Amino acid sequence: MKTLIVSYLPRGERSHTKKLLDTFLAETGDTHIEHLDLLENLPDVFLPENLGAYIKRSYLGETLTPEELRSMACMDRLTAQLKSADIVVLATPMHNFSLPAVVKAYFDAVMLKGETWEAGPSGYFGLMKGKKALVLMASGGIYEGQMASWEHGMSLARTEFSFMGFEDIRHAWIAGVNMMPDKVDQLVEKAREDLREIIREWY
Ligand SMILES: Cc1cc2nc3c(=O)[nH]c(=O)nc-3n(C[C@H](O)[C@H](O)[C@H](O)COP(=O)(O)O)c2cc1C
Repeated sequence: MKTLIVSYLPRGERSHTKKLLDTFLAETGDTHIEHLDLLENLPDVFLPENLGAYIKRSYLGETLTPEELRSMACMDRLTAQLKSADIVVLATPMHNFSLPAVVKAYFDAVMLKGETWEAGPSGYFGLMKGKKALVLMASGGIYEGQMASWEHGMSLARTEFSFMGFEDIRHAWIAGVNMMPDKVDQLVEKAREDLREIIREWY
């Protein structure tokens, strides 16, 4: 069983999300883990050349020139890596009510038609059946009640995994670190407990 960790933690050692990732690493033992650090491996974003190549290959079924293939190489590499994992763990902060741009770029890079999802006569379907995804996140606010509609981070990550067909999607979320600065330790501990429960079940 292979676990792929995809992390984007620009606050480094100060990151609250990292506390969850450290707990995950400490408590999953000697499981086969591969780590994609997005700080060191920025995903390509779609620009005219690679978007044209993607449409040509995946929507029109045409063969790409070597140059067009090269323009897709980064996305193809990230997608193959994602597909090789049984469990994907995404560790990311919430930025501006959503996923940070780099994490969104990662999803854009791996959500390739014909690779992680497909379209058929009865609509879209994910190709990542039987796989699990876990989202580790910290946010300054708490998105409940009236604020729930402002939340586009955790919900987007869960939607993206779901669209790709991941069947068991969980999260551990430290929410409210800026709203309740005097309760951060408790918030972290609560999310750690949620995480431990998932680890117990999955590993
Ligand atoms: C650029 C930036 C944007 C942020 N935007 C939001 C936001 O929209 N909503 C929120 O609840 N917290 C926001 N925060 C607070 C972070 O989510 C919070 O500091 C969290 O701890 C970040 O995770 P980390 O500690 O793993 O870096 C933002 C922080 C930064 C640096």
